[in-house]
Amino acid sequence: MTYVELTKKDGFVLLTINRPEALNALNEQVLDDLDEALGMIDEDTRCLVVTGAGTKAFVAGADISVMRTQDRTEAKRFGKKGSEVFRKLEMLPIPVIAAVNGFALGGGFELALACDIRIASQNASFAFPEVTLGITPGFGGTQRIVRLVGPGAGKELLYTARRVKSEEALRLGIVNRVVPQETLLDEVFAMAASIAKNAPIAVRAAKRSVNTGVLCGMDEALAIELENYSNCYETQDQVNAMTAFVSKQEPKPFENK
Ligand code: HXC
Repeated sequence: MTYVELTKKDGFVLLTINRPEALNALNEQVLDDLDEALGMIDEDTRCLVVTGAGTKAFVAGADISVMRTQDRTEAKRFGKKGSEVFRKLEMLPIPVIAAVNGFALGGGFELALACDIRIASQNASFAFPEVTLGITPGFGGTQRIVRLVGPGAGKELLYTARRVKSEEALRLGIVNRVVPQETLLDEVFAMAASIAKNAPIAVRAAKRSVNTGVLCGMDEALAIELENYSNCYETQDQVNAMTAFVSKQEPKPFENK
């Protein structure tokens, strides 16, 4: 892979988009690399952290020099490719945390939105500059932002292209936490590690319940949750953890079975 690096940590994986000469902007190759990298996340991985190389940008958007010369057909194909890769990311069975270390603009904002959780550095900023370039978001941003912050706040960001700094992003619910740039990765790694130590089958079940349920009516969503919840009772990890609690023993590490 040219522009994406995967680094295995203890129980989780760090994915870094590394194209600093263009503030990590997404061209075809970056999207292909991202797709390939997601295909390499193995069964043992319990959480994924996504970030951008350097201290200036998470991802400054789709590559404008590429988009500038596209016609409608090419734009649709490029949009579909990015949209599918981001959906693949969103549908990974494990939690994904975006460590937003700077500009998250256009396609970069859309990438962060496809993650489960966003932690931002103090210098991070978010915007949809698409309408200043004569286009709209095409990698899922219009759909995910309104589901995250509601239609009123989401539409304002989409229509105005206004840049939101991390503290406002926190107030809007775009990010879960704002931390200093220097400690961003440490804080995100600590969160990834705290997820990684929990029962993996249960964590994946919780993600499935949310991701599927959020698209349904309440009754169907509750039925989905009940199914995912009760399936956990077929796991050794549930038996061991509850037995350890009741018998006042030190719980064993989860075995993912
Ligand atoms: C291509 C980009 C880029 C981008 C930055 N660069 N963003 N190249 N596409 N999206 C390149 C610059 O051309 C420059 O290259 C280098 O990165 C450094 O950027 P500068 O502009 O010199 O840095 P600075 O002055 O600090 O400004 C940072 C910035 C600005 C505010 C982030 O670069 C910017 O506004 N970028 C565009 C952001 C944007 O509009 N993104 C949304 C794109 S639309 P050189 O070679 O000159 O050093 C989109 C649609 C998604 O994402 C949906 C598609 C289906």
